[in-house]
Amino acid sequence: MWFENKVTEELKINYPIIQAGMAGGITTPELVAAVSNAGGLGTLGAGYLSPSAMSESIQKIKKLTTNPFGVNIFIPEFPDVSDEQLEKSNRLLEPFRKELNLSSKSFSKPSTSLFNEQIQVVLENKVPVCSFTFGIPPKETIQQLKKEQIIVIGTATTVKEAILNEENGMDMVVVQGSESGGHRGTFSGSFENAMIGTMALVPQVVDQVSIPVIAAGGIMDGRGVLASLVLGANAVQMGTAFVTSLESGATEHHKGAILNATEEQLVVTSSFSGKPARGIQNQFITEMRKHESSLPGYPVQNTLTKDIRSEAAKQNRPEWLSMWSGQSPRLSQKRSVKDIMDEIVVKVSGQVENISKKY
Ligand SMILES: Cc1cc2nc3c(=O)[nH]c(=O)nc-3n(C[C@H](O)[C@H](O)[C@H](O)COP(=O)(O)O)c2cc1C
Repeated sequence: MWFENKVTEELKINYPIIQAGMAGGITTPELVAAVSNAGGLGTLGAGYLSPSAMSESIQKIKKLTTNPFGVNIFIPEFPDVSDEQLEKSNRLLEPFRKELNLSSKSFSKPSTSLFNEQIQVVLENKVPVCSFTFGIPPKETIQQLKKEQIIVIGTATTVKEAILNEENGMDMVVVQGSESGGHRGTFSGSFENAMIGTMALVPQVVDQVSIPVIAAGGIMDGRGVLASLVLGANAVQMGTAFVTSLESGATEHHKGAILNATEEQLVVTSSFSGKPARGIQNQFITEMRKHESSLPGYPVQNTLTKDIRSEAAKQNRPEWLSMWSGQSPRLSQKRSVKDIMDEIVVKVSGQVENISKKY
């Protein structure tokens, strides 16, 4: 059957469909469990979660499903940021803060211990799958997780990054095409050169690595799933398609913006976080565009804009929110996870049957 392969076997899931771990409150326990209950792999986006919040969510997920699920974690980064850069960014953000009645922001350094604490939570809770983005975890971490039979999945945006994932012992790799919503996972080489479309990138990676490949970027329905399998991927990872689901914790602004967006409104910006990410064009992105190259790197800029983003959400100002989305917003649907998953399975099965009748 089209849905049986190495990935479904190793992850112990029915269908080769992974819901992307999406940090920032989107991946509610209800969303993660609904995907796993529908036969895919739900993933908790734990990138910004404290260890206690992470444990709490994992406990809730375990109450809602007995099927396997995953947790997604960020590889930490500590960019060099000058006082001048910090001052400049704060100066540029001041007008937004003023309009939102926010006081000036003092900057706190990124935590060095969060990553290790998050790994401990994954180990203690024996979460079946742990995926990473923004780099490759240290060898000791990979060994620790694998010793507990936890499957480790990396992210790559080029063939070279996929090879690095394999060489470092990752079990599988998500190949993130340039269509993808959210942050670019690029960790080796320039972001610009790593903007390669899913259709071009997936088969080139498949030819160069022997670990299973998971295609991501612009995949929203049965057509995208089947196309990815034909390109040699063993599974897909979908983000945007689940952001608009009923179980998602995305704000109504975010869901509505995706449901009403067209493909030419999706842009890549680093102005919210200091790292390029794809989202829906709005006033914040337009105004900050010319300053992007001089802003502090990730995660410093992300910390600086945090108060603006959360207050903008409270005050109904979507023009200043980050609304991540991939390049296929017209295919998004406001439906339950079960309906989205069932439709994909029915459509792929139908298409496979049609093809086999033809040939
Ligand atoms: C709202 C949103 C948040 C995301 N957050 C994460 C994240 O925390 N970790 C991660 O590995 N990928 C994240 N991604 C990227 C996904 O893993 C995946 O590459 C992307 O969603 C695929 O493209 P699509 O959105 O067109 O399906 C995010 C994507 C979106 C849309």
